[in-house]
Amino acid sequence: MSPVGGLRARLLERLTPEEVETLGARDALSIEHADKLRENVLGLLHVPLGVVDGLTLNGRGFMVTLAIEERGVVEMVRRGAGLAAYSAESSEQIMMGQIQVVGVPDVGEGIRSVLAERANLLVEMNAVSTTRRALDLTARGLDTEAGPMLIVEVHVDVKDSMGANVVNSMCEVIRPAVEALTGGRVNMAILTNLSTGRMVRVHARVPAGRLSDGVIDGVVKASAFAEADPYRAVTHNKGIMNGVSAVLLATGNDTRAVEAGAHAYASLRGAYRPLSKWRRSPDGGLMGYLEMPLSVGTVGGVVNTHPIAKINLKLLSVTTAAELGQVAASVGLASNLGALYSLVFEGVKSIQ
Ligand code: MEV
Repeated sequence: MSPVGGLRARLLERLTPEEVETLGARDALSIEHADKLRENVLGLLHVPLGVVDGLTLNGRGFMVTLAIEERGVVEMVRRGAGLAAYSAESSEQIMMGQIQVVGVPDVGEGIRSVLAERANLLVEMNAVSTTRRALDLTARGLDTEAGPMLIVEVHVDVKDSMGANVVNSMCEVIRPAVEALTGGRVNMAILTNLSTGRMVRVHARVPAGRLSDGVIDGVVKASAFAEADPYRAVTHNKGIMNGVSAVLLATGNDTRAVEAGAHAYASLRGAYRPLSKWRRSPDGGLMGYLEMPLSVGTVGGVVNTHPIAKINLKLLSVTTAAELGQVAASVGLASNLGALYSLVFEGVKSIQ
């Protein structure tokens, strides 16, 4: 089914007629193409692609496609996007890789040896990529049930890629040197999905007069419930991830990596907490704040090979991973606002 009428015209402002046809095509991704993307392909699972036009982020209007099977999510995002203006900022794009070294005769001595060779290890890692840079390397001891271990951590500026492959390759390349320096054995080397070096912060502002006093009070109290109770916080966060993951899936990004990182971040301070908070603003409106780690890419992997992912990314007209992360997080906050609005104003039936 191809989009028609006003929506088609709006899409044509950003896409070619062929790209608009592809978005609605049944066979945009052929089984042969899928077989090249992934191993053991049996068939294709089609996921509905919804669209929200009119998310205002950092003063710019965005048209966002959402890949999601759940009824009501696109409407929740549309509602949240219509109620508030969003502003977002990102940290640097630093991913961390971890190298686990076991059987180290003297962990303290091993750490000293690794740190003394830090500069050479960085040179070796930086031979892996001409575009991404290993910036730092740290080492620490870790006491575990299986005995003491030495953990080497590498910090990589992955720029606009998701970064998993480059971080893993950089860890792998220094494996022999780390073993020689510590006298231990590298048991495994892999990036962490708790990407606290890639944070996104989003503010939502609903102007005074747009929502009734009762709804504002309801949303603020719903936020307080989530802030005080992990059973509610996890569902509150699920409402956020409905939006975030739908953007990530639509743009060919790794939803599981971001979801794992988001939930770990939510519990980083010892208790599971909501990723967003809502408060009454001084002018009588409503304000929301969301903070989460987001490791996404606008280059590499499925992002540049899946025909629909490429079109969805073009539609967003974002060029950097930081911008894409800001859009995904803002859609998450919009989805959260839309859900809370519906729950406190109309009840759960309105979104099913
Ligand atoms: C359903 O997918 C999401 C909600 O449960 C979120 C929430 O409760 O805040 C409606």
